[in-house]
Amino acid sequence: MALRCLATRKTLAQAALNSTRLTQSRALQTFSLPDLPYDYGALEPAISGEIMQLHHQKHHQTYITNYNKALEQLHEAIEKGDASTVVKLQSAIKFNGGGHVNHSIFWKNLAPVREGGGEPPHGSLGWAIDTNFGSLESLIQKMNAEGAALQGSGWVWLAVDKELKKLVIETTANQDPLVTKGASLVPLLGIDVWEHAYYLQYKNVRPDYLKNIWKVINWKYASSVYENEFPSARSP
Ligand SMILES: [Fe+2]
Repeated sequence: MALRCLATRKTLAQAALNSTRLTQSRALQTFSLPDLPYDYGALEPAISGEIMQLHHQKHHQTYITNYNKALEQLHEAIEKGDASTVVKLQSAIKFNGGGHVNHSIFWKNLAPVREGGGEPPHGSLGWAIDTNFGSLESLIQKMNAEGAALQGSGWVWLAVDKELKKLVIETTANQDPLVTKGASLVPLLGIDVWEHAYYLQYKNVRPDYLKNIWKVINWKYASSVYENEFPSARSP
């Protein structure tokens, strides 16, 4: 009788564990492609509608699909206690998760000219740019130089360092998100310098793409992120 009772308790405990695992499986967070806040052709002539459509629907979607797949595999590996697979999945998660994070920022960094794209930043961010880099033109020159010099594929960033309380320019390779360069860095503006972002229109002349993208940069978005980080930042 005592043995049967023990067995019943074990069975119930196992059922409860399975139920918890099932609930956790159902609760696994997956990601989906965010809508663009403008039409694919709205950034022309700076960036063609064909590039925007492919970039968003194919490239960004592929990062999301592979990120979700890697997260599901990670979830299974953790449940099985498969430490080796957990480690093996880290590079796929960094690459595809980074691709999703970076592109989600990139779309918000752009805006059609008729909606303020390319309009220089005002307020506290404009003042911070002048203080840190001398002028907006000087910042653009520096970012273009860093972006043109970046070997292979990657990103060039304007960020605010929350600890140092200053603006910085950074680059990341491949799809590494900015956080890999420092936990205190908050991205204000990320420019994609992968060939898929410009090749159809600018061929292999990355500097021409970098020169033209500033015509559709959404400085209002960068300013809102900056002001959110530093609500009391000095304005001119
Ligand atoms: Fe991209």
